[in-house]
Amino acid sequence: MVNIVIVGLGYVGLANALFFNGHHNVVGYDVDDKKRALIRQNICPLSDASLVDAFNKSLSTLNVVDNPETSYQTANIIIIATPTDYSTSNCGLDISSVESTIKDILKVNQTAEIIIRSTLPLGTTDKFIEQFKFKRIAFIPEFLREGSAFSDTLRPDRLVIGACEEDQPLLKSLFLNSLGKACPIILTTPKEAEAIKLFANSYLAMRIAFFNELDNLANANGLNSNKLIEAIGLDSRIGNGYNNPSFGFSGYCLPKDIKQLTHDFGEVPHVLLSSITKSNEERINYIVSLIMEKHPQVVGIYRLTMKAGSDNMRQAVISEVMKLLEKQNVNLIIYEPLIKETHYQGHKVINDLQVFIAQASLIVANRSDDLIKSAKEKLFTRDIFHTDK
Ligand SMILES: NC(=O)c1ccc[n+]([C@@H]2O[C@H](COP(=O)([O-])OP(=O)(O)OC[C@H]3O[C@@H](n4cnc5c(N)ncnc54)[C@H](O)[C@@H]3O)[C@@H](O)[C@H]2O)c1
Repeated sequence: MVNIVIVGLGYVGLANALFFNGHHNVVGYDVDDKKRALIRQNICPLSDASLVDAFNKSLSTLNVVDNPETSYQTANIIIIATPTDYSTSNCGLDISSVESTIKDILKVNQTAEIIIRSTLPLGTTDKFIEQFKFKRIAFIPEFLREGSAFSDTLRPDRLVIGACEEDQPLLKSLFLNSLGKACPIILTTPKEAEAIKLFANSYLAMRIAFFNELDNLANANGLNSNKLIEAIGLDSRIGNGYNNPSFGFSGYCLPKDIKQLTHDFGEVPHVLLSSITKSNEERINYIVSLIMEKHPQVVGIYRLTMKAGSDNMRQAVISEVMKLLEKQNVNLIIYEPLIKETHYQGHKVINDLQVFIAQASLIVANRSDDLIKSAKEKLFTRDIFHTDK
């Protein structure tokens, strides 16, 4: 057993804390007082189904601290999972919370291994190693999906360990001992690991944009997108996953990571990557133009969540659609059971589904489901397969 401190208890940090909890002495820290208080009351602070389940079944109660300094002093491993939001002012991910955490750790402990799981711009880990004159900083990208955050951490498709050669065996055995199933382990430099994470997310964004563009053309020509996508996906080189048309890719990670990777290319020739964000913006505009063609009196927004099966509304594409509809002075109402208030951003929330259906002249759903089936004739969606996998 080793002493592990997890800094930042969001999707990534909490999944990692639960992953190691029970196998090691785990202590969690988050700047958010409310999150710490909830965890102490044994309430999962996030509504992600897989995290809630793991939290409730956790081998032991997760220990959280109000001040991490003492825990840093005795830690063998410190995992950083703080946010790296996109900052428009410096055209890249804001790494300040990761940087300040490393600074705080090194004030009291110069022997622990620091593992960064937050997504970073290319070359950041090496810069930290140089800046802090401390070699034991590794980058181990996290590939979890919100909605299955814990199960993805427990049973990842692969583990990429970006660390100096001396530390790779220790890190490999640390993760291997807690994994729920064997998976390929790829040992790389930190910079390669950073690139793997950014390229993986950019590929996913590109794939969504690709099938959405297919759907644009199919819609404009009266073609059946469903048949096109199924037939194309039967080519084993293409495959059938991650191909469900949507209003656009969204959420916390894909939009920011692709912008970061494009930025990292700098002067290196690239056309494809910079067009993915543009393609997504055009998709959203096209969706709104299709909605406006129907001249709806009242548009009912069915769910504000980011994707199928998710309880997360963070940076969901539907909010971009709403913004554009607002600009055109469209009257909006919302059905979103996760919102308990009567209004959301100035729009009425109607969580009685029958009343919502009756009041909306058009129902706009990025993802549709069985509940809204009865309003089929009013429904505007491009969702075919009812999944985001
Ligand atoms: N959400 C995902 O699907 C996902 C997947 C893979 C990687 N990532 C990456 O992991 C990182 C974290 O993402 P997330 O989704 O867990 O974010 P999140 O917003 O859910 O959680 C981050 C947590 O860190 C806390 N925090 C902020 N600053 C802090 C500080 N200085 N010290 C301690 N706690 C602090 C916040 O209060 C929050 O609880 C990001 O870099 C993200 O790109 C996210």
